[in-house]
Amino acid sequence: MTKRSLFVLLLATVLIACNEKKDPTEAKIDELISQMTLQEKIGQMNQLTGSGLSDDMKTQLKNGAVGSILNETDPEIVNELQRIAVEETRLGIPLIFARDVIHGFKTIFPIPLGQAASWNPEIAEEGAGISAIEATASGIRWTFAPMIDISRDPRWGRIAESLGEDPLLTSIMGAAMVRGFQGDDLSNPTSLAACAKHFAGYGAAEAGKDYNTTWIPETQLRDVYLPSFKAAVDAGAASFMCSFNDINGVPSSGNIHLNDDILRKEWGYDGVLVSDWASIEQMIPHGVVGDLKEAANLSLTAKVDMDMMGFAYVNHLEELVKEGKITEKQIDESVRNILRMKFRLGLFDNPYTKIPVISPFYSEDALAKARKAAVESTVLLKNDGILPIDAEKTKTIAVVGPMSDAPADQLGTWIFDGEPERSITPLMAIKSEYGSKFNIVSEKGLTHSRDKNEAGIAKAVSVAKNADIILFFAGEEAILSGEAHCLADISLPGAQTKMLEALKKTGKPVVIIIMSGRPNTIEKEVELSDAALLAFHGGTMAGPALADLIFGAEVPSGKLPVTIPKMVGQIPVYYAHKNTGRPAKDIVLIDSIPVGAGQTSLGNTSYHLDAGDKPLFPFGYGLSYTEFSYSTLKISKTKASMNEKIIVECDITNSGKYDAMEVVQLYVRDKVASLARPIRELKGFQKISLKAGETKNVKFELTSTELGFWNTDNKYITEPGEFQVWISKDSQSGEAGSFWLE
Ligand code: NOJ
Repeated sequence: MTKRSLFVLLLATVLIACNEKKDPTEAKIDELISQMTLQEKIGQMNQLTGSGLSDDMKTQLKNGAVGSILNETDPEIVNELQRIAVEETRLGIPLIFARDVIHGFKTIFPIPLGQAASWNPEIAEEGAGISAIEATASGIRWTFAPMIDISRDPRWGRIAESLGEDPLLTSIMGAAMVRGFQGDDLSNPTSLAACAKHFAGYGAAEAGKDYNTTWIPETQLRDVYLPSFKAAVDAGAASFMCSFNDINGVPSSGNIHLNDDILRKEWGYDGVLVSDWASIEQMIPHGVVGDLKEAANLSLTAKVDMDMMGFAYVNHLEELVKEGKITEKQIDESVRNILRMKFRLGLFDNPYTKIPVISPFYSEDALAKARKAAVESTVLLKNDGILPIDAEKTKTIAVVGPMSDAPADQLGTWIFDGEPERSITPLMAIKSEYGSKFNIVSEKGLTHSRDKNEAGIAKAVSVAKNADIILFFAGEEAILSGEAHCLADISLPGAQTKMLEALKKTGKPVVIIIMSGRPNTIEKEVELSDAALLAFHGGTMAGPALADLIFGAEVPSGKLPVTIPKMVGQIPVYYAHKNTGRPAKDIVLIDSIPVGAGQTSLGNTSYHLDAGDKPLFPFGYGLSYTEFSYSTLKISKTKASMNEKIIVECDITNSGKYDAMEVVQLYVRDKVASLARPIRELKGFQKISLKAGETKNVKFELTSTELGFWNTDNKYITEPGEFQVWISKDSQSGEAGSFWLE
């Protein structure tokens, strides 16, 4: 045998072996793509919003011009549209139906920011699991969630939909949601394909104004904004969505670096990348393309597989191929990703939705999980010994405030399918569950959160003045947060503060319960109150959950997933900031400056004269009805090499009277590095249960990989040197230990 024929033989053997090993799904995709016309391929890349059984939709389906439909939730219509796709098109490729199922479908769970306050991934996973059961019964197999944008600006309305300010907390809670939506097997008919969104940096919008520009250096992008997305890839998220913003001038829908270099090449992602609603087209107003055709070209080059309501692909890709500006191979790549997701969902074998005979909505299990989620999502900010309500000393309880009985508002933003008539409000729950034990009196005082009409306040006060305790349910209506609902002033709207002042004047103890889509600036309100609970928008079961907490059937265990500023001018304010060359100390506030003082900067440090250097409440903060004491930190090594593990541990004792849960947090600081590092970074947390009087040891394992950061050469590195470490109740407290990495 000649050398050449030997080589040919070897090559053939290798090729046969490879072919034999080829993933059967990939082989089916290849086969299908080989049969598809260019128009059919482009059709798969087109996502349209539902229009029922309109003639136009039917025609488009029959022409193979649609790959996915969003916002169609009648399962009969879904099945009929699917029938047309499967039975009346040449290749019978099934559609995929999508919807924003963000924190519940019918049974609404707390807004994601609230869920993040639970610091309990089980809560997020269970909630997403219930959402999947309920949404798939309506034909939905693809949700546009979780939203894992790091959010450090409470003016941004979408902070409600986020998991807060921290990359690790967001990664863990986001991955849990992905698992909950998708279950163990995506082809199970009750599994929902998740969508990690918005890729990327959307939460960094300037001034917290939605859709706004972002400036994010690569090091910060990788340290802060990308880890949650990498975690979603690792958790198996079936799809990703582009963000609306531009990053350093390049909109995400046309961002080759983000979508190709990082998502596809670096992370090896093989799921679907869908644009946001018309975000391909919106590259025109962004000013980076001149027309829709250029937009289609740029997005395809940036590896965006599906065009959501932008009509760029369906109108221009064919032309672009014919002109040789893009290749059919590029299109095949995207179609492959889309078909792969459809195969993974089992849609080729099982395209139709089985319409359940018994309603799958609001099951006992769903409501119990929603209640538990709302309990764990609530953060106790202050308690002057007033909570839980002392049944011995209390006869009459006044339930007042605009959120005390606001069934729609307690559901929060992004609840297309939620039904306010199924909400149990705090007033309803308190009356039904505690009405026989206490005398419950109520008067909203303000009809809604923005109500400025003070006439009702007097009525509420007259009801409240005879009570032993006043429960003031304040906050924001659902419509004040969410997409495109950003605020420059994040104090409590309307006449709520005036109402609180009037209630305070009765001399009765006041508990403020804030039900809101964002952290508000509530310094004055907290000061005026004897106790304060931050409940976010808690969903369908917010009322019973809050009643459980207020009356002591449950003990608060939530911790803040975001910093609460004292005032808007402090923003951006987040715990993981840099130290600066003049870290805050020797703080002299505005009123202590002598009149006529001369200009001086010597000794001055980094803070605001009118706010100091601290927020109102730090990230990770949250009280309990019990007390937890933390023992001195133990660190397994004071010197460790790069490949050694470091064990950091501490004993936590519940020294109070209540069995309770505590979120134990691990923070680290890299003291000296080639790039300035944050003063603390969360590296781990554990939510533990402790009986009154019980002590538990909590251990964390640190490896050098967790201690690294991205440098300006775009490399993830861990540098030797001293690290400080804390195990603490929040991001500000605790005694630092330290170790050296060599
Ligand atoms: C726009 C939003 O930014 C996105 O999060 C959502 O999934 C889509 N609209 C679809 O509703």
